[in-house]
Amino acid sequence: MSNQVTKSENSEVLPPVGNPEIRVIAMPANTNADGRMFGGWLMGMLDQAAGLVAARHALARVVTVAADSITFHAPVLVGDELSLYARLVKVGRTSMKIEVEGWRRVRHELETVKSISGLFTFVAIDEDRRPCRVPPINETRLLSDKADK
Ligand SMILES: CC(C)(COP(=O)(O)OP(=O)(O)OC[C@H]1O[C@@H](n2cnc3c(N)ncnc32)[C@H](O)[C@@H]1OP(=O)(O)O)[C@@H](O)C(=O)NCCC(=O)NCCS
Repeated sequence: MSNQVTKSENSEVLPPVGNPEIRVIAMPANTNADGRMFGGWLMGMLDQAAGLVAARHALARVVTVAADSITFHAPVLVGDELSLYARLVKVGRTSMKIEVEGWRRVRHELETVKSISGLFTFVAIDEDRRPCRVPPINETRLLSDKADK
């Protein structure tokens, strides 16, 4: 199977600046019947990356309460490197909204392609699994995220 993918017209060219939360190799065990990476696996990867950011901000256990949006921009193929970038975009009393992007790269090539993106809501929970307060969003971190782009 060819590793070439067709990019949609509005494809971004470069991934977010900074280190990804997660970087994995797309393996055959996670394909769908069509031989591409299974959408459920990709969504799970987004959820994991967002969860890392949420837990790091809250310094508490966190649970996913909503996948507000998920878009598949381009397929991810077996053997691709998949990099998951995530950033905190909004904080409520106990909830956090995290934007996540997954970028594929053929391992022996330089070009990266945005393949999946989403917005997740996480809630911080205490020992009794009840929602607990999270710190306010650090505006400096948000501004520096933007300035990096
Ligand atoms: C997350 C959970 C603890 C929230 O409990 P709850 O009784 O609904 O709590 P609240 O109504 O006080 O809501 C807590 C926060 O979640 C937000 N929230 C609740 N439902 C939401 C939804 N569908 N979408 C977005 N945010 C939501 C609320 O707005 C609130 O945010 P805020 O405190 O920042 O204002 C509970 O719903 C739960 O345990 N869900 C299952 C989580 C889970 O198993 N996830 C999968 C595995 S990680």
